[in-house]
Amino acid sequence: MSKGLAAAFLVLLLLTQWAHAFGESAVPCTACHADVVQRFADTPHGRALVDGGLTDASCAACHGEGVAHPTAPTDPAHIRAFRDDSSTEVNAVCASCHQETHQGSSVHSQAGLSCLSCHSVHKVPQKAPLPSEFRDVDDASAACYSCHQEIFTQFSFNEGHRLAQGAVSCLSCHDAHDVGQGMRLGGFQQEICRDCHADKAGPFVFEHGASRVDGCEACHVPHGSPNRHMLTHQDNGALCYTCHAAVPQFHVGFAPAGAPRFGTDTVCTNCHVTIHGSNLDRNFLR
Ligand code: HEC
Ligand code: HEC
Ligand code: HEC
Ligand code: HEC
Ligand code: HEC
Ligand code: HEC
Ligand code: HEC
Ligand code: HEC
Ligand code: HEC
Ligand code: HEC
Repeated sequence: MSKGLAAAFLVLLLLTQWAHAFGESAVPCTACHADVVQRFADTPHGRALVDGGLTDASCAACHGEGVAHPTAPTDPAHIRAFRDDSSTEVNAVCASCHQETHQGSSVHSQAGLSCLSCHSVHKVPQKAPLPSEFRDVDDASAACYSCHQEIFTQFSFNEGHRLAQGAVSCLSCHDAHDVGQGMRLGGFQQEICRDCHADKAGPFVFEHGASRVDGCEACHVPHGSPNRHMLTHQDNGALCYTCHAAVPQFHVGFAPAGAPRFGTDTVCTNCHVTIHGSNLDRNFLR
């Protein structure tokens, strides 16, 4: 046994005996984790859990009592270090205080994510290294980058919500803890889009049936697309023809003589100006 180790062992022995002398209380965490405790005091948990001085109970809330841990610090059986815990186990500890914030059966928890995939208790949250074009995104969106780079790419298209400039956040449309929620936009319950686009979501006297199933996504790509107005199609007519097999025959009469017949590049919304719905006209002409 080296000299250093022997000395450490002696200190440990003294500490445990000292703890013994003071009844059931073990050696306080502070005795050996001064650096952790110091950093902890300046975190949201530290500030909230400190009530007249940091107590071991604050640490135990997450790590367990750890009574035997001081005598065998390297034995993972004696302290909860979270390292090898399943996401369900981690979430259960956090949810013991954050009942309202459970991941439930969200896609994220099914994918094995835990609270610690996005949150850190002791470390100051570090912004993931983002490419310079996304330097100004809000912190919450930055937390999504490491796993969803392909979504950020969609925001780089010519036509897209200005996430990069901080005008919208991933959380404008997705709930951080139930990320799938904002995706259910069908029917006329497009609340998430309505928050900012009240004029497009109705309700209208004459609804466009297109919204009935997929909502706004029937015609728009919500993150961004290369097409005008973030539409799913480059050409206006091509978009309409995906659902309307053909324009009614009388349309042909509208076309100026010699002009091409109604095709995929016809701008149908030149006449159907209230394409999102109308209170005046069932054909969305005004
Ligand atoms: C007698 C000193 C001592 C006391 C008291 C002590 N620890 Fe430790 N603890 C250690 C040492 C040494 C390690 C490092 C072991 C290692 O490197 O694996 C450690 C490691 C840990 C780890 C990380 C374990 C891992 O596997 O990574 C946690 C968490 C921890 N301690 C929490 C606590 C908490 C909470 C308390 C109070 C209930 C506490 N400790 C009290 C000495 C102590
Ligand atoms: C709100 C829950 C929570 C509380 C309270 C808490 N911890 Fe932790 N601790 C964690 C989690 C989770 C980890 C795993 C690493 C991470 O995500 O930060 C951890 C990691 C650790 C580690 C090993 C990694 C490191 O940073 O050295 C030690 C040691 C530790 N905690 C000690 C303590 C002590 C001492 C206290 C009380 C002052 C305490 N913890 C309070 C949740 C908590
Ligand atoms: C003993 C109860 C308790 C446990 C266990 C607990 N927390 Fe907390 N947590 C709190 C309290 C109290 C606050 C402060 C609430 C406030 O500021 O309104 C808080 C705040 C937070 C915040 C908000 C921080 C901020 O920036 O405002 C996050 C995120 C969080 N906890 C995550 C976690 C995670 C992850 C775990 C599991 C590793 C966990 N908590 C376990 C009590 C707890
Ligand atoms: C996919 C990433 C992600 C996961 C997983 C996650 N969170 Fe969060 N959480 C966030 C983001 C982003 C915010 C910031 C919300 C805001 O700014 O409005 C947040 C905010 C919080 C807050 C403070 C605000 C609030 O809503 O009360 C608490 C507490 C919290 N999370 C706890 C948890 C707990 C407990 C878990 C695990 C059951 C968890 N989180 C899992 C991303 C996540
Ligand atoms: C640690 C990795 C990770 C982080 C961080 C993360 N996600 Fe995810 N996310 C996943 C995985 C894995 C899936 C499962 C589907 C897949 O493979 O894409 C997923 C799925 C999703 C889905 C699809 C949900 C559905 O119902 O199909 C949305 C929306 C989403 N994440 C949004 C977010 C947002 C917003 C953030 C930031 C607050 C975030 N994610 C952070 C890994 C992550
Ligand atoms: C303007 C609202 C809005 C914003 C902002 C937004 N999303 Fe979405 N997101 C949606 C909608 C709506 C869907 C459903 C799309 C579909 O089903 O075609 C979706 C789908 C997803 C999906 C699953 C489908 C896919 O394409 O893989 C992921 C993952 C996702 N979003 C992540 C994110 C992330 C990460 C951010 C921030 C960088 C973000 N979203 C910002 C509205 C938004
Ligand atoms: C039937 C397809 C369709 C549906 C469904 C649809 N849109 Fe549109 N939207 C369009 C077309 C086509 C344009 C381009 C109009 C033009 O050419 O002038 C447009 C343009 C827009 C514009 C930009 C033009 C402006 O007037 O500011 C916004 C914003 C918009 N839509 C939001 C929404 C929202 C929010 C929803 C869901 C509530 C939605 N759209 C549903 C087809 C649709
Ligand atoms: C937080 C507010 C906010 C939410 C929520 C939001 N948008 Fe937007 N949207 C904007 C802003 C602001 C613009 C203007 C362009 C910009 O600054 O990004 C815009 C632009 C658009 C445009 C393009 C308009 C054009 O002239 O080209 C479409 C289409 C659109 N949004 C559809 C949607 C859909 C669909 C949803 C729901 C999935 C949605 N938006 C949710 C704020 C929002
Ligand atoms: C996602 C499918 C879809 C797309 C794309 C779509 N529509 Fe529709 N549209 C419908 C449905 C469904 C109805 C309702 C038909 C019914 O109730 O019989 C409808 C109704 C209409 C009506 C009212 C007359 C009627 O038959 O009830 C007009 C006019 C119309 N659409 C024009 C357009 C134009 C112009 C475009 C392109 C900008 C377009 N639509 C794109 C699905 C779509
Ligand atoms: C020059 C103007 C004009 C253009 C361009 C136009 N429409 Fe129309 N459309 C009309 C008028 C006017 C009516 C209604 C006639 C009536 O009152 O019955 C109509 C009616 C409709 C109807 C409802 C027919 C019904 O049976 O009730 C649909 C569907 C429609 N248009 C689709 C389209 C599509 C798709 C395009 C683009 C390829 C388009 N329109 C371009 C003027 C136009």
